[in-house]
Amino acid sequence: MSAPLILVLNGPNLNLLGTREPEIYGTGTLDGLETLCAETAEGLGLAIDFRQSNIEGELISWVHEAQNRAAGLIINPAAYSHTSIALMDAIQALDIPVLEVHLSNIHKREAFRHHSYVSLAADGVICGLGFAGYRLALIALSDILEEDQ
Ligand code: DQA
Repeated sequence: MSAPLILVLNGPNLNLLGTREPEIYGTGTLDGLETLCAETAEGLGLAIDFRQSNIEGELISWVHEAQNRAAGLIINPAAYSHTSIALMDAIQALDIPVLEVHLSNIHKREAFRHHSYVSLAADGVICGLGFAGYRLALIALSDILEEDQ
């Protein structure tokens, strides 16, 4: 049997990881984050499809794609968390488990980051743990998928 696929989506500006506000997001790159996710997934018997886009509509189309292709979704919607009802609606339409991840603790930052539309649709949220948040999200999804069997 092939490994269940987890779609890992990253929103705007996350391609700049490593150089963008390293005091907030750390010095690790998006490529490094993909490697961490791939290694973690392999250890859990999962496969990942890891993507990043700066375009809201592209992220929404990828969320739609997840319904038929993926067993679960991990998404860091970045700034679209705080603005995008369309992304929230797309996630709401999924019936696979969805975990939202933020590298930084959005609740410790500016007030406009405290609210996430995506959190209204996600099954769980991890924030403030840096790259480890993605690793923990994969572990949690693996548990959820096992429970569902
Ligand atoms: C972020 C937090 C968002 O508020 C911000 O716009 C980002 C990254 C995070 O991972 O901490 O781009 O989602």
